[in-house]
Amino acid sequence: MIYMDNAATSYPKPSVVLDALWEAVERCGNPGRGAHSLSVWAGEKVLETRENIARLFHVQDASRIAFTQNATHALNIAVHLCYGEILTTSMDHNSVLRPCAKRGYYRIVSGDYNGHLSPDQIVSAIGDMTGAVIMTHASNVTGEIYEIEPIAKACRKRGILFILDCAQSAGTVDLNLEKVPADIVCITGHKGLFGLQGTGAVYVAPHVPISPFMSGGTGTNTFDLTHPNQMPECFEAGTVNTHGIATLCAGVEYVLDCGISAIRKKESALRSYFQQELVKIPGVTIYGDGSNCAYTGVLSINVLGKDPGMLANYLASKEICVRAGFHCAPLAHDTIGTKSLGGTVRFSLNHLNTVDEIDVVISYIKEFCKNL
Ligand SMILES: Cc1ncc(COP(=O)(O)O)c(C=O)c1O
Repeated sequence: MIYMDNAATSYPKPSVVLDALWEAVERCGNPGRGAHSLSVWAGEKVLETRENIARLFHVQDASRIAFTQNATHALNIAVHLCYGEILTTSMDHNSVLRPCAKRGYYRIVSGDYNGHLSPDQIVSAIGDMTGAVIMTHASNVTGEIYEIEPIAKACRKRGILFILDCAQSAGTVDLNLEKVPADIVCITGHKGLFGLQGTGAVYVAPHVPISPFMSGGTGTNTFDLTHPNQMPECFEAGTVNTHGIATLCAGVEYVLDCGISAIRKKESALRSYFQQELVKIPGVTIYGDGSNCAYTGVLSINVLGKDPGMLANYLASKEICVRAGFHCAPLAHDTIGTKSLGGTVRFSLNHLNTVDEIDVVISYIKEFCKNL
């Protein structure tokens, strides 16, 4: 099997992640809810994971990171903390667009036909009533890594929130929050950080006013019927997914050991090679082919006149895992012109893929194009 669906969820998980899961199943009590050894083990594991995530993003105070179910949960919390008008982009995922639409009072900045977002355009779209800019760090359709630093700095200068969706970038693209003044960062655990599904986190900067998103038990202040308003308990109502968090702990450590720049370099080299081979195949269109842009390992294509599902199904029959369709990013397809085509076929590589695997996939794509 050749797995190229890492933008959906990473596979395989490193063996240290599997070991961490097994250890958690054997040793995990309820974190922060008891003094016995299993509960203490769980509490320490949760703390260690918070500290690993803090190291990943260069955050000084790990308590500013709360665990969530996934990036979607984190992004809903982020939107809940927004005030005024929200500015977002046409390249964003439904986990940004739908919470914005539910809340109302938001505006979209469109990308160009390559899915490229101009920082200048976003900054100049900020209006007097804008309270937050919320955008993805990297597109889950084209793979473009967006230039966020000037946008974050402009938001900080105006005193409005800059919220970053790092679902596709965490573990793949370096983000140093000492340099990039993002106010809220949302991550998912099961993609580039190699944890299990059901894990995620939200970082909230110390100056951001917070209020609970959900209320419930925290193991603290039991007689106060108001949910705590400090991090991380504010966003951790109920028992967290400690088993999953233990895998995230190992996944983040794995990423830090590999080195994000090494991961980036490998993914970028693989994507360039893949793209270079794809352009040679008549009838294949590659989306997001902007020169001067940086990309993750995500690459979207179509074959002339064919529904994306046909190629994805053909590849699935050869045990090659990719994803076809709209990838939960509806406006991205208006932007790059693939809405009426049924979306794209998305290949998402990570640093564990190989040139040999790409060669096999290319040969099947050629075969598919020839058969038609
Ligand atoms: C850009 C982007 N944001 C948010 C999400 C949501 O992540 P999750 O499904 O883990 O909540 C995804 C998932 O594919 C994504 O690609």
